[in-house]
Amino acid sequence: MEQSIVNSNGYSIFIGNDLFETIRSYLHQYEFKENKIFVLTDENSRKYCLPRLMSNIQLLQEVHIMEIDSGEGVKNIDTCKRLWNELTIQGADRDSVLINLGGGVVSDLGGFVASTFKRGIRYINIPTTLLSMVDAGIGGKVGVDLNGLKNQIGVFSNPQVVFLLPDFIDTLPERQVRTGFAEIVKHALIYEGHYWDDLSTKNFDSITNWRDIIEWSVEIKNYYITEDPLDTGFRKVLNFGHTIGHAFETYSNQHDSNSLSHGEAVAIGLICESYISHKYANLPKSELDEIVHYVTENFDHYPIKSGQFDALLNIMLHDKKNKGENINFTLLTSIGNSLINQYADIPLVKESLFFYQSLQT
Ligand SMILES: NC(=O)c1ccc[n+]([C@@H]2O[C@H](COP(=O)([O-])OP(=O)(O)OC[C@H]3O[C@@H](n4cnc5c(N)ncnc54)[C@H](O)[C@@H]3O)[C@@H](O)[C@H]2O)c1
Repeated sequence: MEQSIVNSNGYSIFIGNDLFETIRSYLHQYEFKENKIFVLTDENSRKYCLPRLMSNIQLLQEVHIMEIDSGEGVKNIDTCKRLWNELTIQGADRDSVLINLGGGVVSDLGGFVASTFKRGIRYINIPTTLLSMVDAGIGGKVGVDLNGLKNQIGVFSNPQVVFLLPDFIDTLPERQVRTGFAEIVKHALIYEGHYWDDLSTKNFDSITNWRDIIEWSVEIKNYYITEDPLDTGFRKVLNFGHTIGHAFETYSNQHDSNSLSHGEAVAIGLICESYISHKYANLPKSELDEIVHYVTENFDHYPIKSGQFDALLNIMLHDKKNKGENINFTLLTSIGNSLINQYADIPLVKESLFFYQSLQT
């Protein structure tokens, strides 16, 4: 059985496609009884992933399954209330464990529900989307949205363990895989080493071995979260591409019928923030060109008009981390080297939007 183990803040992330024996032993070791194990899914992880777990781990055939609808729309307190009630009715107590089987919505919501139920019960993540494997399912940030504000309510609370089966992405729609890929590109850009050199030889469409890519991507995210578990500074490196990316995501959610996915928005952010890095933090022009070439090869262009820039800037200016009219960024000084808390002024940010716009063919 081929598996790797990444050690995080007091818990392990097991990676491998055949982790069933490991999961079985883990549940056995902690003496979890079937009536104390709860599995949270959405309809897709229930359909595509749960049967594989159940057919390989007998103990899971008898446990209580809880299901939420898929999508960000359910990541709120109303769903938490429903799940807290369901756990109460089913007799969950502090000996119970909640297994979050799903994407980032399931792990954010389920992690929060578990961490607050009876002052906290244990939870396990089994991420089933690429994004949750390399990002949402590790790192201990759990929570829900409030009145449309993302992740407004939440806590830091680590899972007991993460079991990551890369094969689960086989049933994921291509667009969802690509959204996770944007975070992988970001990881390769911020972290020193050979990752960018390796990744930039592969196109999204040519990747067949996701397992190895997932593994190094997890190691990179894990490096930052173990150095800065409570997100007080160093972890901000992971924000590269996200200041402008979030603005596009929010803007697109408000205006487009088929809105940008998180990863598609981050891909735009990677280009714009690399441009700002070149102008403000001396990222060499050759590296900017490399990044732009790679991102435009792998992600569709989002057409924007100059008349939309002010709305995007307004969204960015809303952020508490800014200093007056200067916007807070994580920037690259070179590929693999980044600086947090860099403040770019509005004209430069606008210039980066013009730069992105000019890439339209
Ligand atoms: N906590 C963190 O550190 C962190 C980091 C990044 C993102 N997030 C959060 O993660 C969420 C986004 O996560 P996501 O991109 O995984 O989205 P998601 O959980 O909404 O899943 C995307 C879609 O894929 C489906 N799906 C899941 N697994 C599948 C499978 N194996 N086969 C087929 N379909 C499957 C889901 O049902 C859903 O329709 C957001 O709420 C975001 O805020 C959290």
